[in-house]
Amino acid sequence: MKLDLNNKNILITGAATGMGRASALEVSKHGANVILADINSEGLVEVSAKLKALGSNFRSVLMDVTSIDETEKKIFEAENYFDGGINTLVHFAGALEGSMVDIDDLAPETWDRIINLNLNGTYNVVRAVAKLMKKRESGVILLTSSGAGVHSPGSSPAYSASKGGTHGLTFHLQNYLSNHGIRIHDILPGSIRSPLKVRQLKEALQNTGDQKHFEKSSDELGEPDGVAKIVAFIISDDASYLKGSIITR
Ligand SMILES: NC(=O)c1ccc[n+]([C@@H]2O[C@H](COP(=O)([O-])OP(=O)(O)OC[C@H]3O[C@@H](n4cnc5c(N)ncnc54)[C@H](O)[C@@H]3O)[C@@H](O)[C@H]2O)c1
Repeated sequence: MKLDLNNKNILITGAATGMGRASALEVSKHGANVILADINSEGLVEVSAKLKALGSNFRSVLMDVTSIDETEKKIFEAENYFDGGINTLVHFAGALEGSMVDIDDLAPETWDRIINLNLNGTYNVVRAVAKLMKKRESGVILLTSSGAGVHSPGSSPAYSASKGGTHGLTFHLQNYLSNHGIRIHDILPGSIRSPLKVRQLKEALQNTGDQKHFEKSSDELGEPDGVAKIVAFIISDDASYLKGSIITR
């Protein structure tokens, strides 16, 4: 099946590395206009160069999703980048800390940082995008939760809580925003090679000393490109009958 994303103006958060980066490259190949958003300026420059070489239509925005004001301001500006405004959100920005740390050893600052980025950051982004999509009574929103906190315990208390929270928020939005013609999903990627995942495996090794588990887990990682292909389909009009959460390798 050949995907046609020519009518898509897609805001991708966390677009500098990992699955956000891979998704930006994949959707561009199918004709989408892309707005890359991240706090990693070097990463944004690198992805921008790739997109330029592909001849893609894109804009790049430094945006910290933990700031509600900055997020709204930058998203409202980005609304004007492409004709028709932002009709698709792919929200990948996130982090994982506190892997294999017991709840009573977890620094409260770590808890706050991860909940603030993964859960409050999701709220900040969705809140701003929903204001725009509701006016048009259409759009697609793809959030990122995880097996951790949804169907498995995960390795970090804060991360699992943040992703369980994102999954719960997706249920709420499916009920509420679908009345405005907006299609909502969350994606639950498996273990995928990315800066986040590599850091998590190293932190777990440091905390457990389990070298065998580290090597096996590192060997078994999936690649961001595999998830990106699924993202491209989810946000396409061909997936208009799709409902609910999507689990990947
Ligand atoms: N890799 C996995 O195995 C895995 C599994 C399940 C879920 N996830 C989730 O997938 C998403 C993407 O992660 P990834 O694995 O591709 O990792 P990644 O580290 O490559 O991507 C995360 C991106 O978010 C950006 N970011 C961090 N803080 C930000 C902020 N305040 N504002 C804007 N951008 C910010 C980072 O700079 C980075 O580019 C995350 O939400 C992660 O929790 C990953």
